Amino acid sequence: MKNKISQLIELVRSLVWILKISYSINRFKFIVRIFVTIFYVVLPIISYWLLKQIIDTSLVLKSTSIDVIKPVLYLIALKVSFDVGWYFLDSFLEGMFKIMRFDLEAYFAVVMVKKLNQMDIEFFENSNFLDLKQKALDTYSWRTTDMLNIAFWSFYNLMQIGVQSIIVIQINPVWLILLFLFQIPAIIILLKIGQSAWNIWDADSTTRRKYTYFSNLFENLSYIKEFMLYGVGDYFINKIRQLIGEFHFNQKKIERKRVVYGFGGILLSNFPGLYITVSLLIMLINRQITPGLLTFYLSNLAAFSLALSNLVKNINYGYEANLYIKEIRRFLEMKNKIDNVPVLDPSLSTSLEVGMTNNYEIEFRNISFGYPNSKRKVFSSFSLNIKSNQKIALVGENGSGKTTLIKLLCRFYDVQKGKIFINGVDINNIPLEELRSRFAVLFQDYVGYDLTVEENIAMGAIDKINKRKEIINASKMAGVLEFVNKLPNKYQQLLGATFEGSEQLSIGQWQRIALAKVFMRNSPIIILDEPTAAVDAKTENEIFNKVMSLIKNKTVLMVSHRFSTVRQADEIVVLKAGQIIERGDHNKLMKINGEYATMFNIQAKAYN
Ligand SMILES: Nc1ncnc2c1ncn2[C@@H]1O[C@H](COP(=O)(O)OP(=O)(O)OP(=O)(O)O)[C@@H](O)[C@H]1O
Ligand SMILES: [Mg+2]
Repeated sequence: MKNKISQLIELVRSLVWILKISYSINRFKFIVRIFVTIFYVVLPIISYWLLKQIIDTSLVLKSTSIDVIKPVLYLIALKVSFDVGWYFLDSFLEGMFKIMRFDLEAYFAVVMVKKLNQMDIEFFENSNFLDLKQKALDTYSWRTTDMLNIAFWSFYNLMQIGVQSIIVIQINPVWLILLFLFQIPAIIILLKIGQSAWNIWDADSTTRRKYTYFSNLFENLSYIKEFMLYGVGDYFINKIRQLIGEFHFNQKKIERKRVVYGFGGILLSNFPGLYITVSLLIMLINRQITPGLLTFYLSNLAAFSLALSNLVKNINYGYEANLYIKEIRRFLEMKNKIDNVPVLDPSLSTSLEVGMTNNYEIEFRNISFGYPNSKRKVFSSFSLNIKSNQKIALVGENGSGKTTLIKLLCRFYDVQKGKIFINGVDINNIPLEELRSRFAVLFQDYVGYDLTVEENIAMGAIDKINKRKEIINASKMAGVLEFVNKLPNKYQQLLGATFEGSEQLSIGQWQRIALAKVFMRNSPIIILDEPTAAVDAKTENEIFNKVMSLIKNKTVLMVSHRFSTVRQADEIVVLKAGQIIERGDHNKLMKINGEYATMFNIQAKAYN
């Protein structure tokens, strides 16, 4: 019982939440809908009253001559106009319902992606969060609009019940109590079913996520190619069939229950109506009420019962919808772990101000870090100092921590111990947006958009989307210019394979576009994680000569497995299992004749 009450409180909270949102989207519509609903409740009662008058007046008429029946005709005309008015309100409300639904859907469509856009990276690697995200994304578009309608219809039902109760109480207060009492079993049944429907849905969220994952594979060309070559498509189709079967099996069970028990509840709730009808008939026979009054009471009674059972249904829907809404709210209210200072302390700003300084030094001091979803440490007491305007190359075998170091610098994750400094300022004291604006990063898993060449490159500095000159300049540096000029629409060429008229690029060409994006960004620190892995050797050489000569006054951190590129760096840092094992320029490291020299020689031999 306590549980039920707390759930009811939760429901009220969600109703208030959704009403507030709807009100904030459009106050005018919201208020109009409330007023229209009030009229929608009152008009039928006036109409019932007019019917009573029509019947009772007609019964005492002595002839059908026009003069005699005129008052009745007036009453009929009045009743018809009220009825027409009600029908008008009915379709008006229907229209409002749809329009407000669209508004709410549009609102949430934006709110959901905004939320995803600012969540910590860590969440996207956490299965609990992914389940919650899946639940929220699967249901927000209809559960939120459902909730809004439930709120409005419950308001309507409550108004109806309130007004009708006044009428019922006039005849017999006990009837009112009976009418309410007999609804209780129906409420309990419906609530129980709602809870189990959700339990199933909740338990199945991992199943659904798997299902989504497997289905999405079929939308990805890279996977389709593998399915064809290895003939494994059917393997995944079977998985999908199995998952959807599992998921629906339990749901079907619940729906069957809902029909059977729901019917029982409704049957029970109709008993008082039967009893009251008989009592009213007896009153009529005893001449305690007129036939008109009988119709008036019966109409009101029918409306009252309907309102009551609709309210129960609405509470039940609301209760069920709230199980989902709660999760949507939980998702939207999730707090990031990476805390963001709102503003940079003015005393620190001079050392970081763009324009004030072009010298950016980076220091990792005694950092320890392991990924949140793993027990292994990637770094323990790791330190590295990068002087301003230095061109540093990070090398080391796969998994040694090169990419992780870059992610820590961007604060995609926070270190567990130690500190990272930029020009002596702890990066935790720099607002995230400001921190990230100091870097131009090309990640190993770079992305391209199915947009135009121009837009793709401008993603590096979106405010320069109309600066053609700068876009061309960045293209030259990244070796994009030569192939863009061969595209039918040059810089306006739509790329990718999704939309009509687009041209697909090769993987190396895409990587060059991604590199151009980095050059677009006028940031003092450039970070390149295997920027030319897919680029041919000749272009790579050209790109690096340009990088080295054109960006003299920038700090560059570069990861590469290609030693012909690496050797041009001012300093080379060799990582192994999260530790620096060698450090120096090419000549120095060759002299040491350690790990670097070995790797270099293997590659050199292969080329010769
Ligand atoms: N998101 C993640 N969650 C958990 N562990 C991760 C994650 N990303 C990387 N790791 C682990 O951290 C270690 C370092 O990975 P990192 O990506 O930094 O290597 P890398 O030096 O960039 O390798 P590569 O040359 O293959 O790019 C590896 O052991 C890897 O398994
Ligand atoms: Mg890497």
